[in-house]
Amino acid sequence: MSLLKILIFPDTRLRTVADPIGSIDNSIKKLSQDMLETMYAGNGVGLAATQVNIHKRLVVVDVSEEKNDPLILVNPEVEILNFEKNKIYAEGCLSVPGFYEEIERPNMIKIKATSIEGKKINLKAEGMKSIVLQHEIDHLDGKMFVDFLSNVKRQRIRQKLLKQKKKKKI
Ligand code: NI
Repeated sequence: MSLLKILIFPDTRLRTVADPIGSIDNSIKKLSQDMLETMYAGNGVGLAATQVNIHKRLVVVDVSEEKNDPLILVNPEVEILNFEKNKIYAEGCLSVPGFYEEIERPNMIKIKATSIEGKKINLKAEGMKSIVLQHEIDHLDGKMFVDFLSNVKRQRIRQKLLKQKKKKKI
């Protein structure tokens, strides 16, 4: 396995809409393992292929305390978002390092997807798992959690991350 390079906001490649995966070949299986390793190395709870500059509809998630319950979803599609009950959660993102902001999203989600073994999956999630899945599926459509923030807040994050990027190049 190998660690992948994560794109950092405001990199415009994060705005790419990912393509559906046709067949789950070995390159997709390896990518999913590399994404899990990259996610765990960064102490993340989710990672979308978009974030490692591969524009295919693949996400990995692990919201367990012990980091031993990985979920790999190929072509995840939101079937139902329940807007009756919302949840406010301080979200972070491996592509927006160091920033956590409270975002309000529906508390319940139903998803259909394909497993890495090629089996159809129907999944219902609530609470944190639901939030993380919504966040990761957004990435596949080029959307990010900073889009939920005010322009002022988003610009502030943008400027700080651009400054850090400049510093690293020296
Ligand atoms: Ni993210």
